[in-house]
Amino acid sequence: MNICIVGTGYVGLVAAACLAEMGNDVVCIDVNPDIIDNLKAGNIHIFEPGLEPLVARNVEEGRLRFSTDLAEGMDEALFVFSCVGTPSNPDGSCDLSYVDEVATQIGRLISDYKIIINKSTVPVGTADRVNEIIQSQVKQRGVTVEFDVVSNPEFLKEGDAVNDFLKPDRVIVGTDNVRTAKLLETLYAPFARSRDKMIVMGIRSAEMTKYAANCMLATKISFMNEVANICETVGADVREVRAGIGSDRRIGYHFIYPGVGYGGSCFPKDVRALIDTAKAYGCTPSLVEAVDAVNNRQKGMLAEKIKKHFQEKGGVEGKTIALWGLAFKANTDDMRESAALDVIQSLTDAGMTVKAYDPVAGGNARKILQDNASVTVMDNQYDPVDGADALAVVTDWNQFRNPDFNRIKKMLKEPVIFDGRNLFSRSFMKDMGFSYISIGRQP
Ligand code: UGA
Repeated sequence: MNICIVGTGYVGLVAAACLAEMGNDVVCIDVNPDIIDNLKAGNIHIFEPGLEPLVARNVEEGRLRFSTDLAEGMDEALFVFSCVGTPSNPDGSCDLSYVDEVATQIGRLISDYKIIINKSTVPVGTADRVNEIIQSQVKQRGVTVEFDVVSNPEFLKEGDAVNDFLKPDRVIVGTDNVRTAKLLETLYAPFARSRDKMIVMGIRSAEMTKYAANCMLATKISFMNEVANICETVGADVREVRAGIGSDRRIGYHFIYPGVGYGGSCFPKDVRALIDTAKAYGCTPSLVEAVDAVNNRQKGMLAEKIKKHFQEKGGVEGKTIALWGLAFKANTDDMRESAALDVIQSLTDAGMTVKAYDPVAGGNARKILQDNASVTVMDNQYDPVDGADALAVVTDWNQFRNPDFNRIKKMLKEPVIFDGRNLFSRSFMKDMGFSYISIGRQP
């Protein structure tokens, strides 16, 4: 099948590579010529495990091409995927300018039947809006062309996106057109072999499913962060509580890890966008608002613990914190809405110095933090620890799970570890002679 994918971000590039992998002919479009030139030269601008060899193989075998020219991409395509960014406006609403621009361009170019597939995360009603934009462009041109706009939200996790695309839990297709649904079933058959995995529904339900899924997951995390904070005060241990409640299959173990607050390009933005949409329609999204508020508070929690510790010991001014983990989670170099940024801001505002390390986000971090003279990003995991007053772990990278504690102890001025991800055992830390302050557990 011939496919055109607009957008070369996490969603667009992963979808393009995975669809090409199944034998389809895919042209991936981006307006940025540097990105396209780099992709043509085999350089991928995002860090995503497994993506580079997948792209390389499909380019080599001639199934995947890159271009800045949408007309070229649309020429033979039956399916046109819109995978462009939908960032937050300052008021929390979703910025649809890229989605609108793609729809306008499609409306100017379309000359035969196409299925326009909205994969970007967009507020309920956007497929109707895209339909109207294309329709009005077609009308202006005085031509008659048939097309369908479908909502097909993505459920990819950064760091595991290729796997999520190749082996999805479900494929949501929002359309009222039976013929279109059948064509999408054929397109997705190699990924969703079991019929149950393909869920066809109304367009607005599909758009809402994406927000409901992300907000549900964000709710689990905020709930668990609240439980963690209560555990600390009442003398309980949230790790034990998690095991206790997760064993109930109705609750499950996933997404109930407390920590430094959720970050990334999806949960914070989508939670705020759902609040905005709900209010625009006159609803009162009290629970989703609370999820957002709890998360904002949680992002400040680890820094508060660090400052409190040093205040009790005589003052925070001039102290140096070694910080492990800058990305919003493990296996990505993405720092969008990463809690590490909140921790760093809070500590340096209080007069502390931060020396940070991340296995892959160091380059991004240097750019983002270049105006903060109190932060240094280092290339080696143990360099920041040398001579620091304490170690703080912010991201759950595997390589932080079992580090050389003897070395850390020798390097730190004081054996103190602040663990924002509950990576270590309390009793082990005690045996090793560390003061150990984590989330939802007793010191
Ligand atoms: C999330 C969803 O998990 C995907 O299904 C969805 O497709 C994607 O958003 C999207 O809308 O594009 P992602 O943002 O890549 O994926 O990351 P997650 O693995 O969901 O983690 C989000 C944040 O929650 C991270 O900061 C993570 O550290 C935090 N988290 C996760 C917790 O604090 N506790 C948990 O138990 C799980």
